[in-house]
Amino acid sequence: MTIDTREDADSIDEQKLNDLVETSLVDLGATIHAALAVIGDELGLYTALDESGPLTSAEVAEETDTAERYVREWLRAQAAGGYVTYNPETDRYDLSPEQAYVLANEDSPVFMPGAFQLVASAAKIEPDLREAFRTGEGIGWHEHDEDVFHGTERFFGPSYGAFLLDWIAALEGVDEKLQAGGRIADVGCGHGAPTIRMAEAYPNSTVVGIDYHEESIAVARERAEAAGVADRVDFEVATARGYNGTDYDLVTMFNCFHDMGDPVGVAAHVRETLSDDGAWMIVEPYAEDRVEDTLTPFGRLAYSISTVACTPNSLSQDVGYGLGAQAGEERTRDVVTEGGFTRFRRTAETPTSLVFEAKP
Ligand SMILES: C[S@@+](CC[C@H](N)C(=O)[O-])C[C@H]1O[C@@H](n2cnc3c(N)ncnc32)[C@H](O)[C@@H]1O
Repeated sequence: MTIDTREDADSIDEQKLNDLVETSLVDLGATIHAALAVIGDELGLYTALDESGPLTSAEVAEETDTAERYVREWLRAQAAGGYVTYNPETDRYDLSPEQAYVLANEDSPVFMPGAFQLVASAAKIEPDLREAFRTGEGIGWHEHDEDVFHGTERFFGPSYGAFLLDWIAALEGVDEKLQAGGRIADVGCGHGAPTIRMAEAYPNSTVVGIDYHEESIAVARERAEAAGVADRVDFEVATARGYNGTDYDLVTMFNCFHDMGDPVGVAAHVRETLSDDGAWMIVEPYAEDRVEDTLTPFGRLAYSISTVACTPNSLSQDVGYGLGAQAGEERTRDVVTEGGFTRFRRTAETPTSLVFEAKP
């Protein structure tokens, strides 16, 4: 594309301008695509392609009981974005093994439709958020669209299925204790995906899932019942700074420590509720310490979700610390040690997660 920049010739670098316009076009396509990915997931379009592909648009429509004209347009948008494979010779669409792994396999650790559900529904808060930018007021997690909670569960759940037990194994002596029978508190548990995973893995232990959001706890209870672990999982509606219980062998926080209004106060409370040789495992979004090193595609996603949900939630609570979802190891260590922990180390990481162990 050639853009006439003669009026601003002194200040505009045409190559940089073209690059930014190109980036914007990709982003615009991605933004509107998010809603289409949610539709493809909910109406079973990806699943139909995975299970029965290659298919024509009419066959996809027939299999999913949807209208062909919509499906045809959707398929072409998907193919243009690399989410679906198109064969011009047969006019059929299919998912490659990689596309199926990301879009149609709910158990894969890189299953993305849940993430699209999360970001597409989180964006609905935009009018309130715009106002919050002006006033500085917070927006609580509970004020979001219900799909934010379901999307979060489906986004993070598969990665807990894949990595959680390795993360626990990397803690000092915790796996052995839990095998024998220990006490776990999972704080900020949401719909309870990691809570239930731990209950399944450690049948001799008891797990308490804690969250301030009553509706999330109600869903978590249903999930535990359905998973057949309700006998060893309890749930409590409480804040991370005020939950009950003492002598926990393990306290866990999955992708929620930075959401807390008073993370130092939370650390102090965890310290009080842990046994003397207990461990606190904190799983946070992957982040480098220096801002310039977080300016990556993943950093962009994390900062954007943080602007829309994590930081507003923290600002809505007492203290309003606003740690943010790209705090990184050094800042997290500072907050945790300020709350009274003496030992803190990174025990594991994935491209999207950092795992820390804090000990009294
Ligand atoms: C991003 S979600 C993570 C949910 C869950 N840990 C997971 O990984 O699936 C953050 C959770 O923190 C909870 N939360 C936020 N502030 C809290 C607080 N002060 N005390 C307890 N829970 C809190 C929210 O209700 C929400 O369920």
